Amino acid sequence: MAPAATLAAPRAEAPVLAPRKAQAPYPIVIVGHVDHGKSTLIGRLLHDTDSLPEGRLAELQKVSSQRGLELEWSFLLDALQIERDQGITLDTTRIWFKTAKRPYVIIDAPGHREFLRNMVTGASGADAAVLVTDAERGVSEQTRRHAYLLSLLGVTKVIVAVNKMDLMGHAEAAWQAVKDEVSAYLAKLGMQPLYVIPLSARHGDNITARSQQMGWYQGPTLLEALDLLTPPAGRADATFRMPIQDVYRRGDRRMAVGRIETGRIRLGDKVEIAPTGQPATVASIDTGRGDGEQFARAGQSAAISFIEDAALARGQIIAPAGHMPHLALALRVRAFWLDSEPLLVGSRLTLRLTTAEHAVVVEKFERIVDVENLNDADTQELGQGGIAEIVLRSAAPIAFDPHTDLPITGRAGLARGTRIVGGAVVLGAAENAASVKGPVTAVDSSVDRDAFEARNGHRGGVLWLSGLSGAGKSTLAMGAQRRLFDDGWRVLVLDGDNLRKGLNKDLGFSPAERLENVRRVAEVAKLMAENGSVVLVSLISPTAELRELARSIVGDGFHEVWVKADVNTCAKRDPKGLYAAARDGKIAQFTGVSAPFEAPASPDLVLDTGEFDVATTTELLIAHIRRNLALDQADGHAVGI
Ligand code: ADX
Repeated sequence: MAPAATLAAPRAEAPVLAPRKAQAPYPIVIVGHVDHGKSTLIGRLLHDTDSLPEGRLAELQKVSSQRGLELEWSFLLDALQIERDQGITLDTTRIWFKTAKRPYVIIDAPGHREFLRNMVTGASGADAAVLVTDAERGVSEQTRRHAYLLSLLGVTKVIVAVNKMDLMGHAEAAWQAVKDEVSAYLAKLGMQPLYVIPLSARHGDNITARSQQMGWYQGPTLLEALDLLTPPAGRADATFRMPIQDVYRRGDRRMAVGRIETGRIRLGDKVEIAPTGQPATVASIDTGRGDGEQFARAGQSAAISFIEDAALARGQIIAPAGHMPHLALALRVRAFWLDSEPLLVGSRLTLRLTTAEHAVVVEKFERIVDVENLNDADTQELGQGGIAEIVLRSAAPIAFDPHTDLPITGRAGLARGTRIVGGAVVLGAAENAASVKGPVTAVDSSVDRDAFEARNGHRGGVLWLSGLSGAGKSTLAMGAQRRLFDDGWRVLVLDGDNLRKGLNKDLGFSPAERLENVRRVAEVAKLMAENGSVVLVSLISPTAELRELARSIVGDGFHEVWVKADVNTCAKRDPKGLYAAARDGKIAQFTGVSAPFEAPASPDLVLDTGEFDVATTTELLIAHIRRNLALDQADGHAVGI
């Protein structure tokens, strides 16, 4: 048997700058209905792998006999529980054991709530689960909920332990019944148990030793099954993410401290810091292994400093340049609820996503799931233990990764004040839906859109001109406006530079501020278009995400126009001298130079100002507008030409 592992005293997350361990233990969770024998199973696992500290077994035997009971494995966990309670605020227990093949760590927590919190915040980082069920009682609602949570959190490697086989006379039929029931439920979640093992934790059947009583069972014992699991495909290979936990000062240098959740980082790497998108270059890495470290990877805690004087704060996420997390004001999440007070539309919560905290409001329930049968539940509130897909809205942009892309930066805790009341995984950005902060009732316009449009002779609409600074957006917008105005059209221009002198003068050029810039302009354009105007918006709007936001706000009548000219052409034109200034390092985050521009993938119109002159591209724009927005004379309306 392997040498005894330590039975860990309670500990918080790995201390910052902890030295690296030889072989990382394989993290697992053991879940199941409280009465189905989870504690007994853990106690038995520790005993059978020789992982109990000296003297603990004797102590246990004494306690059991004092109570006039057989050896009670779960007392062992009770004892641990007391130790942990003395450890004040720590909420995770890590219980270590070792097989001949590798070390394991069982991540446990004192209660349901803390356990879920750890699962969701990723503190546990479990790769596989043992789902304990009871041979006598079968699958309970709690078993179903735990299985659902595992699927929710992407823990799809599940070993089912059918416990208490001794109470069923070790009969194969009893095992088969539970196996069928649990497999059918897991199948609905798109999961399949890797092994369904009949066992008796109390008597040690099929844990390490093969059961004498269940010769009919040919599969692996629990420990054999664990040893058969393949470790995850390396978090170090995923996109780099380090949420900042804290910022330290060392001399005049600031250091971002946190745990590298995924990926790797090297000295000299170019990064961006979400949500502000500040670019930075890695100047030093410290994981506590001594001077001159060049490199760090997922799982390590690190202190990182940058060449630039970056504004660092807890809650930001360090990401590779060009691979920032997504940004959105509203998120679709799949949430489960633990509080006795139900969750309602309009409820205010704190969303804890990695190390960031965001004040959010529940905007709507997209679906409430009945955990028993996975159907939609017919209710408008989420009760304790419930699961739902909801939209959460925040006033400030949230940096996130969809859970399916990067599970760790895609899970969140839900809190009321400091109390964790639920958890969630992020499905993606939510469509822009109406969200208001107070009791506001919209007033209907006294003139409806049709009436405006009939008088104008054209429909309202938004031509969203996106492109680099110097590509010609403003020139084209102004040119088209003049011509259409002369032809009797109602046509307005919203120009980025002009708006930034008034409405948007509080905004700079970080990704978050550009998002807010686009949001405001899109909202204004929408109002104007609803009042029958043609709105020409000229805004760099450098990313697909920003243009999608604009499209979702405006809705029908949105036309994405790419004013196309490559960055060299624009830099040569440089009408405002900004490219020169940006190259001299005088303007930070300048689009095309030190901030990205993503070419539109499928714009409604491309105006290539690098290829064609202003007169031609203006004609193309006007022709597009007439084609799409003029009312047809055949409909009995005047055509405003
Ligand atoms: S957007 O990216 O948020 O859509 P917007 O169109 O409003 O940008 O503003 C772009 C204008 O701001 C440019 O035409 C330029 O004159 C000026 N500007 C100043 N700093 C920057 C910068 N860092 N990046 C881009 N444009 C900038």
